[in-house]
Amino acid sequence: MCGIVAYIGKKEAYPIVVKGLKRLEYRGYDSAGVALLDQGTINLYKRQGKVANLEAFTEGKNINGHAGIGHTRWATHGLPNDVNAHPHTSTDGKIALIHNGIIENYGPLKEELMSRGYEFKSETDTEVLVHLIDDIQKNENVSIAEAVRLALHSVVGAYAIVVLSKENPNQLVAARKSSPLVVGIGKDGDFFLASDATPIIEYTKRVVYLEDEEIAVVDLNDGLKIFNIGNQEVTPYVQQLEMQLEALEKGGYEHFMMKEIYEQPRSITDCFRGRMNAAEGWVTLGGIKEYEQKIINAPRIIMIACGTSWHACLVGEYLIEDLARINVEVEYASEFRYRNPIINENDVILAVSQSGETADTMAALELAKSKGATILGICNVVGSSISRITDAGSYTHAGPEIGVASTKAFTAQVTVLTLMALSLAHKKGSISETKFHTLLTELEAIPEKVQRILEKNTHIESIASVYKDATNALYLGRGSSFPVALEGALKLKEISYIHAEGYPAAEMKHGPIALIDEEMPVFVIATKGTSYEKVVSNIQEVKARKGKIIAIVTEGDTQVRDLADHIIEIPETDEHLVPLLATIPLQLLSYHIAVMRNCNVDQPRNLAKSVTVE
Ligand code: G6P
Repeated sequence: MCGIVAYIGKKEAYPIVVKGLKRLEYRGYDSAGVALLDQGTINLYKRQGKVANLEAFTEGKNINGHAGIGHTRWATHGLPNDVNAHPHTSTDGKIALIHNGIIENYGPLKEELMSRGYEFKSETDTEVLVHLIDDIQKNENVSIAEAVRLALHSVVGAYAIVVLSKENPNQLVAARKSSPLVVGIGKDGDFFLASDATPIIEYTKRVVYLEDEEIAVVDLNDGLKIFNIGNQEVTPYVQQLEMQLEALEKGGYEHFMMKEIYEQPRSITDCFRGRMNAAEGWVTLGGIKEYEQKIINAPRIIMIACGTSWHACLVGEYLIEDLARINVEVEYASEFRYRNPIINENDVILAVSQSGETADTMAALELAKSKGATILGICNVVGSSISRITDAGSYTHAGPEIGVASTKAFTAQVTVLTLMALSLAHKKGSISETKFHTLLTELEAIPEKVQRILEKNTHIESIASVYKDATNALYLGRGSSFPVALEGALKLKEISYIHAEGYPAAEMKHGPIALIDEEMPVFVIATKGTSYEKVVSNIQEVKARKGKIIAIVTEGDTQVRDLADHIIEIPETDEHLVPLLATIPLQLLSYHIAVMRNCNVDQPRNLAKSVTVE
């Protein structure tokens, strides 16, 4: 959580930093602030709320400076108010600092600094860092970069920081540990720093992703220098960004979420392009190819993730167990890391993460790595922390996802997991050639079928208008449609603030059925397949209690049509691939309900897209 951005060069820093903050707002929007160095003075502008509030506050003010740092906050320590907003400054105002992460030992550090006369203005953990750096610089008489390096030796926790010092007007100092930080090398000798590449892309494609415990000094005279925390110089590894600027804009849609829902025919195609060919009968995931035999031999695959990505793992569990006959366990990363799990060297740990930065998922991977297990990743963000610490992995290639509620990243994750299950099953020989070909052919047809579902948007919107005022909702599914139900419920609660729960359809009678009355919408995935008749019985049970049924059914279905209050038809496909289709109408339903309730669809309250705190 929290987005940081900084600029130093010949241009005016403020517009660049503010534009960058807007791109990073998905990381948190409790407050926003900037510090600019102008003619030897650091000027600070901070406001509670979104970047738009900061812009309103600065409107008409003469804000100048060739060096600036900015921050958009997701509050951890201290209320989301103006005072706790970043940047934070040293007592004499000579140093300003922005931070993403958590300083876990801020308590003792603060006490010590207070005992030596430092006064704290905010309730944040971050403020200790700026005083600590200031203290070291004064007492040790060292450069600002060296003071940062020494200060970080005393810090326990996660950080990506950028420091602006008025005594070094040509320099910014940055460092990271467990929180991401990218350096952009500009075309005019200027530099950019940001939590991800999105604020940088329109100025330069040359970037360096900092590694853990590295300190970067960008200097208008001396260029970029990187040191590790032990003070050894490291050669920067400059990468070329492949992201396109259009991917970061709404492209005519009212919300990023809608744009991203509509991008799914393309994002699913991008995900399997070059990885399979139904006519030629092959599938390959280049990134993990050399680990496939190891996965097949593994006693089990443990999949770890959070949020929507965890739901994708549940779909993956059904696919890999059923097709490749390999034992799979799915774990919440946050639970896994703290319950002293049994991990053996032969286990394969597969982390799934859109951002590739989720703190719990990272920590769970590090734990597994320390026990000698093979660690693999499925990430969307190229160059992200998880993609870099894993032994191997596959990118989802869904393109940047800006809406906080995940949509296209989920279907891309499920697509990669489907490819993985097919590839493993084929190599292992646990799937017949006929089934293998059928599934490849069906998978290739999915984007076009998703498109056909998107064309039902008006019908789905009209159903949404019936249930927009609901206070509770239930989502039911069986088999791999159970995680789809979980994901449908999560989407609704995230963006519309309606309480919603996903359940395996048969479990309904062990509790949730008590909640059903004529006010309760029950969304059921009732597509043709193994459990169809059972789900029909569950629908009958809901109807007997006067619940309202909104059913996702296979095209041409008549049985559920007669029972349900509303149906949404989806094209027929192999049962294994239903999650890729059944998810789409649930995304659209949540979207429309949230819009009708005047909710902020792209930036729901209290949430952030990249959860870099545990
Ligand atoms: C946050 C986001 C969710 C996401 C989850 C896991 O809660 O709002 O959309 O599913 O984090 O994030 P990851 O980047 O690891 O997939």
